[in-house]
Amino acid sequence: MKHIVDIKDLSGTEILSIVKRALYLKKSRVVPRTLDRKYVVTAFFEPSTRTKLSFQRAALSLGAKVIDLAPDTSSMLKGETELDTLLTIEAMDVDAIVIRTRRNGDPAKFSKHLQIPVINAGDGTNEHPTQALLDITTMYEHYGKFNLRVAIVGDINHSRVARSLTEALAKLGGSVIFCGPEEFIPKSFPDVSLITTDLQEAISNVDVIYALRIQKERIEEVYDNIEEFFKNYQINESNLEMAPKHAILMHPGPFNRNVEVSDGVVYSSRSRILDQVRNGVYSRMAVLEKATGAYEYESIQSIEKFVVI
Ligand code: CP
Repeated sequence: MKHIVDIKDLSGTEILSIVKRALYLKKSRVVPRTLDRKYVVTAFFEPSTRTKLSFQRAALSLGAKVIDLAPDTSSMLKGETELDTLLTIEAMDVDAIVIRTRRNGDPAKFSKHLQIPVINAGDGTNEHPTQALLDITTMYEHYGKFNLRVAIVGDINHSRVARSLTEALAKLGGSVIFCGPEEFIPKSFPDVSLITTDLQEAISNVDVIYALRIQKERIEEVYDNIEEFFKNYQINESNLEMAPKHAILMHPGPFNRNVEVSDGVVYSSRSRILDQVRNGVYSRMAVLEKATGAYEYESIQSIEKFVVI
C-alpha cells in the first residue's frame, strides 16, 4: 500500500515503472483484472471532468467497483468535515480513495489519518502528480526519450500541474523553461533552467510547448490584462512558427479556447491534448495498481535500462 500525494512520493525509477506499465496497458488487448473485487472511491471536493472520469474508467477497466462521493449532496452540507467524511467512507471497507481538494496539502494531511491508499487528484496550487505522470507518458510515447526541453507557458504561479511536471521531468533528466506575464511567473524555481516573459526566447528551442490557462478560481486579485495575455502568450498558428517544427503542443485541460490556445492549434496535427486525455486512463490504471499493491512492479534500475515492451 502506498499513498501517492505528490511527486516526491515517487523515485525516478518508480516514475519509469508507471510509464512503462501505462504504455503496456494501453497496448494490451485484454486488460488484466488486477483490481477485481476492490472498491475505489472518488472524492472530489473541487470540480473535475478528465481526472475524475479517467480514474473511474481506469478502476472499472481493472475490475474494481467505483463509488463516487458527491460532496454537494453529502452530509457535509450538515456540517461534517472533509476528514470525517473520508473516515466514514473508509469504515465502509473500501480499498483506495482518490481525492481532489481546494486547499493545498489536504490529501497529504488526510493520508496521515487513513489506512487505505490516498491518491492526490490535485490540491489547490500545490500538486497534481497523476497529471505529471500522464504528461510524461505522453511525451515518452511521442519522443521515445525523457531528456526533453519543455516550455511551460501561462499562469504558472497558480498551477499545481507546473509544479508536479517540473519536479517529475527533473527526476528524468528533462529541462524546463517557465514563460508568462510577470504576474504569473515566479522569480525563481527549483530545477527550472530559464524563467522569462519573452515567448520567443522560451519556445525557440524546445520539444514541447505546454500551455496553461489562467486559473481564475485560484486568483484573489482581478487580472485585467487579458488582451496582453493573448497578444503575447496565446499559442496560435503564428506563435507556433517561433518553435522548432518538431515541437508538440500540450495542455492539461480544461482549456479556454482563443485565450491561451487558439482554435487553429488546439486539435491540430501538433497537438497532443487528446492523447494526454487518453493516456490519463492508462497512467491512472498504473497508479491505482501501484497504490493498492495490486501489481508487482519490476524494478527498473536506471533510465538507460528503460524499455517499453
Ligand atoms: N487536467 C485536469 O485536472 O482536468 P480536470 O480538472 O478536468 O480534472
